[in-house]
Amino acid sequence: MGGTIAGRAERADDNVGYRAGQVPVEDLAAGLPALAGLHLRFEQVAQINSKDMRLADLQRLLKRVQDCLVDPEVQGVLITHGTDTIEETAYLLQTLLAPTKPVVLTCAMRPATAVSPDGPQNLCDAVAVARCPGAKGVVVVCAGRVHSATDVAKVHPYRTDPFASGDAGAVAQVEEGQVRVFRPWPGESAHTARLVTFLAAKDLPRVAWVDSHSGAQAWEVDVLLANGNAAGVRGIVVAGTGNASLHNDLEESLKRAETAGVRVVLGTRSGLPMVPYATQPFPQLDGLSPAKARWALTLDLLDG
Ligand code: SIN
Repeated sequence: MGGTIAGRAERADDNVGYRAGQVPVEDLAAGLPALAGLHLRFEQVAQINSKDMRLADLQRLLKRVQDCLVDPEVQGVLITHGTDTIEETAYLLQTLLAPTKPVVLTCAMRPATAVSPDGPQNLCDAVAVARCPGAKGVVVVCAGRVHSATDVAKVHPYRTDPFASGDAGAVAQVEEGQVRVFRPWPGESAHTARLVTFLAAKDLPRVAWVDSHSGAQAWEVDVLLANGNAAGVRGIVVAGTGNASLHNDLEESLKRAETAGVRVVLGTRSGLPMVPYATQPFPQLDGLSPAKARWALTLDLLDG
């Protein structure tokens, strides 16, 4: 799919001023000893910076993964992807496909042209996970850690180990090509009907994401619904402070939005699942992070 793992910089000592999504996927795997002798099939589905992901890119990826998974010759699918939205793509793949084979996303924080790129080792580790007996579901492999699609979040902008799985912890760890499993692989309840609807969608229900913060004001929500909701907003995910507490002014404007028929869902800026509380003004979605709750709400609204 592109990303920094396929990034190219002008100078080998530049780890931040590169262009993501430049190096073809075959070239990323060329010459890696851990991949020698394996039957690998390569496909360049996209070549983009993941911050620019669009519906069509996600649909193309989902369709290709779906096709690969039904092929009896395929043991697992490996996706190279940018780190910035990998957790959202992983969540969508797991929710809509819940594969019984491993679908392993991997990435890098340094471009392919770096003095010491992290992509090659991540790729080798990802292949080890895809070949691991019993592995299934969608996971993200980076810096030797195997994170589940539901729990993974990018928590650092620069480190080569930028992901965390919160209190749940990693599913497994890769050590010298061996996978040490800590907890069960992601489960198997796919939303098949939703997959069909998602793949056919020309556009998605409009779901906005706002944060509560010190000094938050009602207009931050009111503008979304201006002119009788001319923008057609169908949902709002609000990331509260601490355990999803909301500024009073923002809460009131969100209540008005709800009365006007907009679905409002609560999350937290902390990046970890919130603890439900008695006076909670809006529902939460499975303790998901705001980024994933936005997709969950989008899929719910797509169902009608
Ligand atoms: C991207 O998300 O495509 C760029 C950033 C990265 O891969 O680290």
